[in-house]
Amino acid sequence: MIGIDTLDLPFIPVDDPEFASDPFTRFAAARDEHPWLAKCAFAYIPTDYAAIREIMAHDDQMRVGFGDAVDLLGAADTPWGRFVKNTILNEGGETHKRLRAAVAPVFTPRQANANRALMREVMADLLDKWLPKGEFDFEVFASYYPISVMCRVIGASTDAVPHMRRSLEALGAGGSFDGSIMAELQSGFALMDDFVRDLIAQRRARPRTGGEPDLLDRLVGIRNEGGLDEQELIYLLIFLFTAGYDTSRNALTIIMHLMIDRPADYARCAADTEYCRKIVDESLRYFGVASSPRVLMADLVVRDVHIPKGTMLLLPWGMSARDPKVFDDPNSFDPDRRKSATPIIFGLGPHICLGQFIARAQLEEGWHAITRRMAAPRRVGEPGWRTFPGIWGIRGLPIAFSAA
Ligand code: HEM
Repeated sequence: MIGIDTLDLPFIPVDDPEFASDPFTRFAAARDEHPWLAKCAFAYIPTDYAAIREIMAHDDQMRVGFGDAVDLLGAADTPWGRFVKNTILNEGGETHKRLRAAVAPVFTPRQANANRALMREVMADLLDKWLPKGEFDFEVFASYYPISVMCRVIGASTDAVPHMRRSLEALGAGGSFDGSIMAELQSGFALMDDFVRDLIAQRRARPRTGGEPDLLDRLVGIRNEGGLDEQELIYLLIFLFTAGYDTSRNALTIIMHLMIDRPADYARCAADTEYCRKIVDESLRYFGVASSPRVLMADLVVRDVHIPKGTMLLLPWGMSARDPKVFDDPNSFDPDRRKSATPIIFGLGPHICLGQFIARAQLEEGWHAITRRMAAPRRVGEPGWRTFPGIWGIRGLPIAFSAA
Protein backbone atom coordinates (compact mmCIF):
# COMPACT_ATOMS: atom_id res chain seq x y z
CA MET A 1 0.00 0.00 0.00
CA ILE A 2 1.24 3.53 -0.77
CA GLY A 3 0.17 6.86 0.79
CA ILE A 4 -1.56 9.25 -1.62
CA ASP A 5 0.70 12.13 -0.51
CA THR A 6 3.81 10.22 -1.60
CA LEU A 7 2.59 9.83 -5.21
CA ASP A 8 3.97 12.07 -7.92
CA LEU A 9 0.62 13.11 -9.40
CA PRO A 10 -0.21 15.32 -12.38
CA PHE A 11 -1.51 18.76 -11.42
CA ILE A 12 -4.81 19.92 -12.99
CA PRO A 13 -5.34 23.70 -12.71
CA VAL A 14 -9.14 23.47 -12.26
CA ASP A 15 -9.48 27.14 -11.21
CA ASP A 16 -7.61 28.44 -14.25
CA PRO A 17 -9.93 30.23 -16.75
CA GLU A 18 -7.80 28.91 -19.62
CA PHE A 19 -8.22 25.32 -18.42
CA ALA A 20 -12.01 25.85 -18.47
CA SER A 21 -12.00 26.33 -22.25
CA ASP A 22 -10.74 22.75 -22.80
CA PRO A 23 -10.58 20.53 -19.70
CA PHE A 24 -10.68 17.35 -21.81
CA THR A 25 -7.17 17.65 -23.24
CA ARG A 26 -5.71 18.32 -19.78
CA PHE A 27 -7.61 15.40 -18.25
CA ALA A 28 -6.38 13.09 -21.04
CA ALA A 29 -2.80 14.26 -20.44
CA ALA A 30 -3.23 13.64 -16.70
CA ARG A 31 -4.40 10.07 -17.43
CA ASP A 32 -1.22 9.53 -19.45
CA GLU A 33 0.86 10.58 -16.44
CA HIS A 34 -1.08 8.57 -13.85
CA PRO A 35 -3.81 6.07 -14.81
CA TRP A 36 -6.49 7.29 -12.42
CA LEU A 37 -5.40 10.03 -10.02
CA ALA A 38 -4.46 13.71 -10.26
CA LYS A 39 -4.51 16.65 -7.87
CA CYS A 40 -5.55 20.31 -7.91
CA ALA A 41 -4.87 23.11 -5.43
CA PHE A 42 -7.51 21.93 -2.94
CA ALA A 43 -8.30 18.26 -3.68
CA TYR A 44 -7.31 14.95 -5.25
CA ILE A 45 -9.14 14.10 -8.46
CA PRO A 46 -9.97 10.58 -9.66
CA THR A 47 -9.65 10.91 -13.44
CA ASP A 48 -11.07 7.67 -14.80
CA TYR A 49 -14.58 6.27 -14.91
CA ALA A 50 -13.94 3.04 -12.99
CA ALA A 51 -12.02 4.81 -10.21
CA ILE A 52 -14.93 7.22 -9.64
CA ARG A 53 -17.29 4.25 -9.38
CA GLU A 54 -14.93 2.43 -6.98
CA ILE A 55 -14.65 5.52 -4.78
CA MET A 56 -18.39 6.14 -4.82
CA ALA A 57 -18.98 2.58 -3.59
CA HIS A 58 -17.72 4.02 -0.24
CA ASP A 59 -20.12 6.97 -0.26
CA ASP A 60 -21.20 6.18 3.31
CA GLN A 61 -17.64 7.08 4.40
CA MET A 62 -17.72 10.52 2.77
CA ARG A 63 -19.61 13.74 3.23
CA VAL A 64 -20.44 16.24 0.51
CA GLY A 65 -17.93 19.08 0.91
CA PHE A 66 -20.06 22.21 0.41
CA GLY A 67 -20.50 22.81 4.15
CA ASP A 68 -16.71 22.76 4.63
CA ALA A 69 -16.36 25.53 2.07
CA VAL A 70 -18.99 27.62 3.91
CA ASP A 71 -16.94 27.21 7.12
CA LEU A 72 -13.76 28.27 5.32
CA LEU A 73 -15.54 31.46 4.22
CA GLY A 74 -16.64 32.09 7.83
CA ALA A 75 -20.27 32.13 6.63
CA ALA A 76 -21.68 29.28 8.75
CA ASP A 77 -23.89 31.62 10.81
CA THR A 78 -25.33 33.55 7.89
CA PRO A 79 -28.68 32.76 6.24
CA TRP A 80 -26.94 31.64 3.02
CA GLY A 81 -24.41 29.55 4.97
CA ARG A 82 -27.17 27.79 6.93
CA PHE A 83 -29.02 27.11 3.68
CA VAL A 84 -25.96 25.56 1.95
CA LYS A 85 -25.16 23.43 5.00
CA ASN A 86 -28.74 22.16 5.27
CA THR A 87 -29.64 21.45 1.66
CA ILE A 88 -30.60 17.89 0.82
CA LEU A 89 -27.33 17.68 -1.15
CA ASN A 90 -25.13 18.65 1.77
CA GLU A 91 -26.99 16.52 4.33
CA GLY A 92 -25.72 13.01 5.02
CA GLY A 93 -26.57 9.91 7.06
CA GLU A 94 -30.04 9.44 8.50
CA THR A 95 -31.17 13.02 7.80
CA HIS A 96 -30.40 12.65 4.10
CA LYS A 97 -32.03 9.20 3.97
CA ARG A 98 -35.21 10.58 5.57
CA LEU A 99 -35.38 13.64 3.28
CA ARG A 100 -34.65 11.60 0.16
CA ALA A 101 -37.19 8.87 1.03
CA ALA A 102 -39.84 11.52 1.72
CA VAL A 103 -39.49 13.42 -1.55
CA ALA A 104 -38.19 10.81 -4.07
CA PRO A 105 -41.75 9.64 -4.98
CA VAL A 106 -42.42 13.14 -6.33
CA PHE A 107 -39.46 13.02 -8.76
CA THR A 108 -40.27 9.96 -10.90
CA PRO A 109 -40.04 9.78 -14.71
CA ARG A 110 -43.86 9.69 -14.75
CA GLN A 111 -44.10 12.96 -12.84
CA ALA A 112 -41.49 14.56 -15.10
CA ASN A 113 -43.31 13.40 -18.25
CA ALA A 114 -46.60 14.77 -16.91
CA ASN A 115 -45.01 18.23 -17.17
CA ARG A 116 -43.86 17.97 -20.80
CA ALA A 117 -46.81 19.94 -22.21
CA LEU A 118 -46.14 22.70 -19.70
CA MET A 119 -42.44 22.72 -20.68
CA ARG A 120 -43.44 23.13 -24.34
CA GLU A 121 -45.69 26.06 -23.40
CA VAL A 122 -42.92 27.75 -21.41
CA MET A 123 -40.46 27.47 -24.30
CA ALA A 124 -43.08 28.67 -26.80
CA ASP A 125 -43.72 31.78 -24.66
CA LEU A 126 -39.99 32.48 -24.38
CA LEU A 127 -39.46 32.07 -28.11
CA ASP A 128 -42.41 34.42 -28.82
CA LYS A 129 -40.65 37.09 -26.74
CA TRP A 130 -37.06 36.53 -27.92
CA LEU A 131 -37.26 35.57 -31.61
CA PRO A 132 -38.23 39.05 -32.85
CA LYS A 133 -34.82 40.27 -31.62
CA GLY A 134 -33.17 38.40 -34.54
CA GLU A 135 -30.01 37.87 -32.52
CA PHE A 136 -29.26 37.50 -28.82
CA ASP A 137 -27.05 35.85 -26.25
CA PHE A 138 -28.34 32.29 -26.20
CA GLU A 139 -26.96 31.69 -22.70
CA VAL A 140 -29.08 34.52 -21.30
CA PHE A 141 -32.12 33.26 -23.20
CA ALA A 142 -31.51 29.70 -21.92
CA SER A 143 -31.27 30.95 -18.33
CA TYR A 144 -34.96 31.95 -18.27
CA TYR A 145 -36.16 28.48 -19.24
CA PRO A 146 -35.45 26.31 -16.13
CA ILE A 147 -36.66 29.04 -13.73
CA SER A 148 -39.86 29.52 -15.70
CA VAL A 149 -40.46 25.75 -15.90
CA MET A 150 -39.95 25.37 -12.15
CA CYS A 151 -42.32 28.30 -11.44
CA ARG A 152 -45.00 26.69 -13.60
CA VAL A 153 -44.41 23.21 -12.11
CA ILE A 154 -45.03 24.57 -8.60
CA GLY A 155 -47.91 26.80 -9.71
CA ALA A 156 -46.08 30.12 -9.12
CA SER A 157 -46.42 33.25 -11.21
CA THR A 158 -43.55 33.81 -13.64
CA ASP A 159 -43.63 37.60 -12.96
CA ALA A 160 -40.71 37.33 -10.54
CA VAL A 161 -38.51 35.31 -12.94
CA PRO A 162 -36.15 38.23 -13.87
CA HIS A 163 -35.45 38.97 -10.15
CA MET A 164 -35.08 35.29 -9.37
CA ARG A 165 -32.65 34.96 -12.25
CA ARG A 166 -30.35 37.55 -10.65
CA SER A 167 -30.53 35.70 -7.33
CA LEU A 168 -29.90 32.30 -8.92
CA GLU A 169 -26.92 33.70 -10.83
CA ALA A 170 -25.41 34.73 -7.50
CA LEU A 171 -26.29 31.46 -5.76
CA GLY A 172 -24.84 29.49 -8.71
CA ALA A 173 -21.62 31.52 -8.56
CA GLY A 174 -21.58 30.59 -4.86
CA GLY A 175 -20.69 27.06 -5.99
CA SER A 176 -17.15 28.30 -6.66
CA PHE A 177 -16.99 29.65 -3.07
CA ASP A 178 -15.69 33.06 -3.96
CA GLY A 179 -15.94 35.08 -0.72
CA SER A 180 -15.86 38.39 -2.62
CA ILE A 181 -19.51 37.91 -3.67
CA MET A 182 -20.82 37.31 -0.12
CA ALA A 183 -23.19 40.32 -0.24
CA GLU A 184 -24.76 39.04 -3.50
CA LEU A 185 -25.04 35.53 -2.04
CA GLN A 186 -26.88 36.80 1.04
CA SER A 187 -29.26 39.06 -0.90
CA GLY A 188 -29.82 36.37 -3.56
CA PHE A 189 -30.71 33.88 -0.85
CA ALA A 190 -32.99 36.42 0.93
CA LEU A 191 -35.01 36.99 -2.26
CA MET A 192 -35.49 33.26 -2.87
CA ASP A 193 -36.37 32.73 0.79
CA ASP A 194 -39.08 35.44 0.67
CA PHE A 195 -40.41 34.09 -2.63
CA VAL A 196 -40.72 30.52 -1.36
CA ARG A 197 -42.23 31.46 2.02
CA ASP A 198 -44.78 33.65 0.29
CA LEU A 199 -45.62 30.90 -2.19
CA ILE A 200 -46.23 28.34 0.58
CA ALA A 201 -48.36 30.81 2.56
CA GLN A 202 -50.47 31.61 -0.52
CA ARG A 203 -51.03 27.95 -1.31
CA ARG A 204 -52.12 27.24 2.27
CA ALA A 205 -54.47 30.23 2.24
CA ARG A 206 -55.92 29.34 -1.18
CA PRO A 207 -55.50 25.61 -1.96
CA ARG A 208 -55.86 24.69 -5.62
CA THR A 209 -59.09 22.97 -6.50
CA GLY A 210 -59.59 20.31 -9.16
CA GLY A 211 -56.97 18.59 -11.29
CA GLU A 212 -53.97 16.54 -10.24
CA PRO A 213 -51.94 17.89 -7.28
CA ASP A 214 -48.88 19.81 -8.52
CA LEU A 215 -45.32 19.55 -7.15
CA LEU A 216 -46.00 22.17 -4.46
CA ASP A 217 -49.22 20.42 -3.32
CA ARG A 218 -47.26 17.19 -3.00
CA LEU A 219 -44.38 18.71 -1.07
CA VAL A 220 -46.74 20.59 1.28
CA GLY A 221 -48.63 17.28 1.70
CA ILE A 222 -45.37 15.55 2.70
CA ARG A 223 -44.78 18.38 5.20
CA ASN A 224 -48.31 17.96 6.61
CA GLU A 225 -47.73 14.22 7.07
CA GLY A 226 -44.49 14.89 9.00
CA GLY A 227 -42.01 13.82 6.27
CA LEU A 228 -40.40 17.27 6.28
CA ASP A 229 -40.34 20.09 8.82
CA GLU A 230 -41.18 23.65 7.74
CA GLN A 231 -37.56 24.77 7.35
CA GLU A 232 -36.72 21.64 5.34
CA LEU A 233 -39.64 22.33 3.00
CA ILE A 234 -38.41 25.91 2.45
CA TYR A 235 -34.78 24.88 1.88
CA LEU A 236 -35.85 22.09 -0.47
CA LEU A 237 -37.92 24.41 -2.66
CA ILE A 238 -35.10 26.96 -2.86
CA PHE A 239 -32.62 24.19 -3.62
CA LEU A 240 -34.78 22.83 -6.46
CA PHE A 241 -34.52 26.23 -8.14
CA THR A 242 -30.75 26.48 -7.60
CA ALA A 243 -29.96 22.85 -8.50
CA GLY A 244 -31.97 23.04 -11.71
CA TYR A 245 -30.81 26.50 -12.77
CA ASP A 246 -27.19 26.68 -13.92
CA THR A 247 -27.04 22.95 -14.69
CA SER A 248 -29.92 23.18 -17.18
CA ARG A 249 -28.92 26.61 -18.54
CA ASN A 250 -25.38 25.37 -19.22
CA ALA A 251 -26.55 22.08 -20.72
CA LEU A 252 -28.96 23.83 -23.12
CA THR A 253 -26.31 26.40 -24.11
CA ILE A 254 -23.80 23.63 -24.79
CA ILE A 255 -26.31 21.83 -27.04
CA MET A 256 -26.66 25.02 -29.09
CA HIS A 257 -22.87 25.49 -29.16
CA LEU A 258 -22.44 21.94 -30.50
CA MET A 259 -25.33 22.03 -32.97
CA ILE A 260 -24.31 25.33 -34.60
CA ASP A 261 -21.44 23.33 -36.11
CA ARG A 262 -23.75 20.45 -37.14
CA PRO A 263 -26.46 22.08 -39.26
CA ALA A 264 -27.77 18.75 -40.59
CA ASP A 265 -28.26 17.40 -37.05
CA TYR A 266 -29.85 20.71 -36.06
CA ALA A 267 -32.37 20.59 -38.91
CA ARG A 268 -33.17 16.93 -38.20
CA CYS A 269 -34.04 17.75 -34.56
CA ALA A 270 -36.87 19.99 -35.75
CA ALA A 271 -38.55 17.06 -37.47
CA ASP A 272 -37.55 14.05 -35.38
CA THR A 273 -38.22 13.98 -31.62
CA GLU A 274 -36.39 10.66 -31.15
CA TYR A 275 -33.29 12.13 -32.78
CA CYS A 276 -33.71 15.17 -30.54
CA ARG A 277 -33.60 12.86 -27.51
CA LYS A 278 -30.40 11.25 -28.83
CA ILE A 279 -28.80 14.67 -29.35
CA VAL A 280 -29.63 15.69 -25.79
CA ASP A 281 -28.28 12.38 -24.48
CA GLU A 282 -25.01 12.56 -26.40
CA SER A 283 -24.55 16.27 -25.56
CA LEU A 284 -24.89 15.45 -21.85
CA ARG A 285 -22.20 12.75 -22.25
CA TYR A 286 -19.92 14.88 -24.42
CA PHE A 287 -20.01 17.99 -22.21
CA GLY A 288 -20.98 16.93 -18.68
CA VAL A 289 -21.26 20.14 -16.67
CA ALA A 290 -21.11 19.00 -13.03
CA SER A 291 -18.32 18.13 -10.59
CA SER A 292 -18.69 17.70 -6.81
CA PRO A 293 -16.52 17.76 -3.70
CA ARG A 294 -16.41 14.96 -1.11
CA VAL A 295 -14.54 14.84 2.20
CA LEU A 296 -13.47 11.45 3.59
CA MET A 297 -14.87 10.68 7.04
CA ALA A 298 -12.62 7.60 7.35
CA ASP A 299 -9.37 6.36 5.80
CA LEU A 300 -9.93 4.77 2.39
CA VAL A 301 -7.83 2.36 0.35
CA VAL A 302 -8.44 2.43 -3.40
CA ARG A 303 -6.30 0.35 -5.77
CA ASP A 304 -3.69 0.01 -3.05
CA VAL A 305 -3.50 3.78 -2.48
CA HIS A 306 -4.17 4.91 1.09
CA ILE A 307 -6.25 8.10 1.24
CA PRO A 308 -6.46 9.48 4.82
CA LYS A 309 -9.57 10.69 6.64
CA GLY A 310 -10.19 14.41 6.06
CA THR A 311 -8.90 14.34 2.45
CA MET A 312 -10.97 16.29 -0.05
CA LEU A 313 -11.79 14.68 -3.41
CA LEU A 314 -13.15 16.49 -6.45
CA LEU A 315 -15.34 14.12 -8.47
CA PRO A 316 -15.36 15.26 -12.12
CA TRP A 317 -18.56 13.44 -13.17
CA GLY A 318 -18.60 14.82 -16.69
CA MET A 319 -14.93 14.15 -17.48
CA SER A 320 -15.42 10.43 -16.76
CA ALA A 321 -17.59 10.17 -19.87
CA ARG A 322 -14.50 10.88 -22.01
CA ASP A 323 -12.58 7.91 -20.57
CA PRO A 324 -11.32 5.91 -23.59
CA LYS A 325 -11.18 2.72 -21.51
CA VAL A 326 -14.98 2.82 -21.24
CA PHE A 327 -16.33 4.85 -24.19
CA ASP A 328 -15.31 4.08 -27.80
CA ASP A 329 -13.76 7.07 -29.52
CA PRO A 330 -14.95 9.27 -26.61
CA ASN A 331 -13.95 12.59 -28.16
CA SER A 332 -16.19 12.19 -31.17
CA PHE A 333 -19.78 13.42 -30.93
CA ASP A 334 -21.96 10.52 -32.07
CA PRO A 335 -25.70 10.62 -31.31
CA ASP A 336 -25.98 7.01 -32.57
CA ARG A 337 -23.10 5.70 -30.46
CA ARG A 338 -23.26 2.16 -29.09
CA LYS A 339 -24.05 2.31 -25.38
CA SER A 340 -20.98 0.76 -23.70
CA ALA A 341 -21.62 2.30 -20.25
CA THR A 342 -23.85 4.84 -18.53
CA PRO A 343 -22.16 8.24 -18.39
CA ILE A 344 -22.10 9.59 -14.81
CA ILE A 345 -23.74 12.87 -15.72
CA PHE A 346 -26.13 13.13 -12.79
CA GLY A 347 -23.81 11.77 -10.08
CA LEU A 348 -23.85 8.40 -8.36
CA GLY A 349 -25.06 6.90 -5.10
CA PRO A 350 -27.41 8.36 -2.50
CA HIS A 351 -27.21 11.93 -3.85
CA ILE A 352 -27.77 11.04 -7.51
CA CYS A 353 -29.69 13.90 -9.11
CA LEU A 354 -33.28 13.99 -7.90
CA GLY A 355 -34.27 16.21 -10.82
CA GLN A 356 -32.65 14.14 -13.61
CA PHE A 357 -35.94 13.15 -15.24
CA ILE A 358 -37.21 16.74 -15.10
CA ALA A 359 -33.83 17.89 -16.48
CA ARG A 360 -33.92 15.48 -19.43
CA ALA A 361 -37.59 16.18 -20.20
CA GLN A 362 -37.10 19.94 -20.18
CA LEU A 363 -33.97 19.74 -22.35
CA GLU A 364 -35.70 17.48 -24.88
CA GLU A 365 -38.87 19.56 -25.07
CA GLY A 366 -37.02 22.88 -25.02
CA TRP A 367 -34.49 21.86 -27.65
CA HIS A 368 -37.15 20.46 -29.97
CA ALA A 369 -39.17 23.69 -29.75
CA ILE A 370 -36.07 25.82 -30.41
CA THR A 371 -35.11 23.89 -33.56
CA ARG A 372 -38.66 24.20 -34.90
CA ARG A 373 -38.79 27.98 -34.50
CA MET A 374 -35.19 29.12 -35.02
CA ALA A 375 -33.45 28.26 -38.32
CA ALA A 376 -29.74 28.19 -39.19
CA PRO A 377 -28.29 29.59 -35.94
CA ARG A 378 -24.74 30.95 -36.18
CA ARG A 379 -22.26 32.45 -33.73
CA VAL A 380 -21.82 36.21 -33.85
CA GLY A 381 -19.24 36.34 -31.05
CA GLU A 382 -16.82 34.05 -29.30
CA PRO A 383 -18.19 32.12 -26.32
CA GLY A 384 -16.42 32.39 -22.97
CA TRP A 385 -16.20 29.65 -20.33
CA ARG A 386 -17.20 29.40 -16.68
CA THR A 387 -14.63 28.04 -14.24
CA PHE A 388 -14.63 24.28 -13.92
CA PRO A 389 -15.36 23.38 -10.25
CA GLY A 390 -19.09 23.35 -9.50
CA ILE A 391 -21.17 23.84 -12.63
CA TRP A 392 -18.98 24.36 -15.68
CA GLY A 393 -20.16 25.66 -19.03
CA ILE A 394 -20.30 28.43 -21.57
CA ARG A 395 -20.48 32.08 -20.46
CA GLY A 396 -22.07 34.06 -23.29
CA LEU A 397 -23.05 32.56 -26.65
CA PRO A 398 -24.10 35.41 -28.97
CA ILE A 399 -26.04 34.00 -31.93
CA ALA A 400 -28.00 35.18 -34.96
CA PHE A 401 -30.57 33.05 -36.83
CA SER A 402 -33.46 33.13 -39.24
CA ALA A 403 -37.10 32.61 -38.34
CA ALA A 404 -38.16 29.05 -39.23
C1 HEM B 1 -28.63 18.99 -16.88
C2 HEM B 1 -29.13 19.26 -15.70
C3 HEM B 1 -28.64 18.71 -14.39
C4 HEM B 1 -27.43 18.13 -14.07
C5 HEM B 1 -26.23 17.86 -14.99
C6 HEM B 1 -27.50 17.78 -12.66
C7 HEM B 1 -26.47 17.16 -11.97
C8 HEM B 1 -26.56 16.76 -10.65
C9 HEM B 1 -25.52 16.03 -9.95
C10 HEM B 1 -24.17 15.60 -10.55
C11 HEM B 1 -25.96 15.82 -8.68
C12 HEM B 1 -25.22 15.04 -7.59
C13 HEM B 1 -24.24 15.92 -6.90
C14 HEM B 1 -23.40 15.17 -5.87
O1 HEM B 1 -23.59 13.98 -5.61
O2 HEM B 1 -22.51 15.82 -5.29
C15 HEM B 1 -27.28 16.42 -8.57
C16 HEM B 1 -28.03 16.42 -7.41
C17 HEM B 1 -29.27 17.02 -7.31
N1 HEM B 1 -30.01 17.60 -8.33
FE1 HEM B 1 -29.40 17.78 -10.27
N2 HEM B 1 -28.71 18.16 -12.16
C18 HEM B 1 -29.45 18.72 -13.17
C19 HEM B 1 -30.73 19.23 -13.09
C20 HEM B 1 -31.51 19.22 -11.97
C21 HEM B 1 -32.87 19.73 -11.90
C22 HEM B 1 -33.66 20.31 -13.07
C23 HEM B 1 -33.27 19.59 -10.59
C24 HEM B 1 -34.60 19.95 -9.94
C25 HEM B 1 -35.72 20.05 -10.55
C26 HEM B 1 -32.19 18.98 -9.86
C27 HEM B 1 -32.22 18.66 -8.53
C28 HEM B 1 -31.20 18.03 -7.83
C29 HEM B 1 -31.27 17.71 -6.41
C30 HEM B 1 -32.43 18.03 -5.47
C31 HEM B 1 -30.06 17.08 -6.09
C32 HEM B 1 -29.62 16.60 -4.71
C33 HEM B 1 -30.09 15.17 -4.47
C34 HEM B 1 -29.65 14.63 -3.13
O3 HEM B 1 -28.75 15.18 -2.50
O4 HEM B 1 -30.23 13.62 -2.71
N3 HEM B 1 -31.14 18.78 -10.72
N4 HEM B 1 -27.62 16.98 -9.78
